Amino acid sequence: MEIKGKKAVIVGGASGMARASAELLHQKGADVAILDLPNTAGAEVAAELDGTFHEVNVLDDAQVETALADAVAALGGLHIAVNTAGGGVAKRTLTKEGPHPIDEFRRTIELNLVGTFNLNRLQAFHMSTNEPEDGERGVIIDTASIAAFEGQIGQVAYSAAKAGIAGMTLTMARDLGSLGIRVLAIAPSLFSTGITKGIPDEFAEVLTKDAAFPKRMGRAEEYGKLAVAIVENPMLNGCCIRLDAGTRFAPK
Ligand SMILES: NC(=O)c1ccc[n+]([C@@H]2O[C@H](COP(=O)([O-])OP(=O)(O)OC[C@H]3O[C@@H](n4cnc5c(N)ncnc54)[C@H](O)[C@@H]3O)[C@@H](O)[C@H]2O)c1
Repeated sequence: MEIKGKKAVIVGGASGMARASAELLHQKGADVAILDLPNTAGAEVAAELDGTFHEVNVLDDAQVETALADAVAALGGLHIAVNTAGGGVAKRTLTKEGPHPIDEFRRTIELNLVGTFNLNRLQAFHMSTNEPEDGERGVIIDTASIAAFEGQIGQVAYSAAKAGIAGMTLTMARDLGSLGIRVLAIAPSLFSTGITKGIPDEFAEVLTKDAAFPKRMGRAEEYGKLAVAIVENPMLNGCCIRLDAGTRFAPK
């Protein structure tokens, strides 16, 4: 899909990989709307990109529906969606304090998997009303993690949630194929973003030691570049792409 003139919603766009995606899509001529939690840099980012900011907590279904509708109305349509809102809890299946709290497991699934699918079903609905361009009506990009495939000790809830995102990608692409809407996920290794800014350099070195090359944290714009490539290349569909410098996480 040609990016120039297209309308993009960027969920989690106040920071990190989504913010970098918004910047690159804007540079390539897309109109962008930033969706993120209140008390984030969402409004500033939107202003820098001549876009609009819409407050939303992806855990709140009603808010998601309203914020997305507002964003689509402000943009005048929707062709591209990038979704990164998510996160995890660090806890083993069985801890010294007892079994993994089930509410924490459930919340991680709600935030990452249910939150993403809720966005996707609504994004697909808005995209379905587009006039197709070369048969295409829209592109949805979700965010998994390489923990979906080789989760480390203490990542059981996060791995399950991200594996759900990776797992639903092909099925959703098949569901939406007849409408000309593509669905992909990106599975990053460790990236330098808002979520990871507290990690000291020495620890980052340990965490990236299993990469083939380069042995460093990913940069947010490297995710943005892949998001742009996904939008531009119509043959990419239905898969979860690892963006990981050849990393395979060890158990810890
Ligand atoms: N940074 C990494 O190393 C890494 C690796 C693999 C996967 N991920 C995934 O990437 C995503 C995080 O992106 P990032 O690394 O750019 O982090 P980030 O913290 O820089 O950006 C995430 C954005 O999502 C927003 N967000 C969080 N919870 C939200 C909610 N409930 N409702 C609305 N917005 C919410 C935050 O406010 C923030 O602006 C998560 O899904 C995470 O699991 C990150």
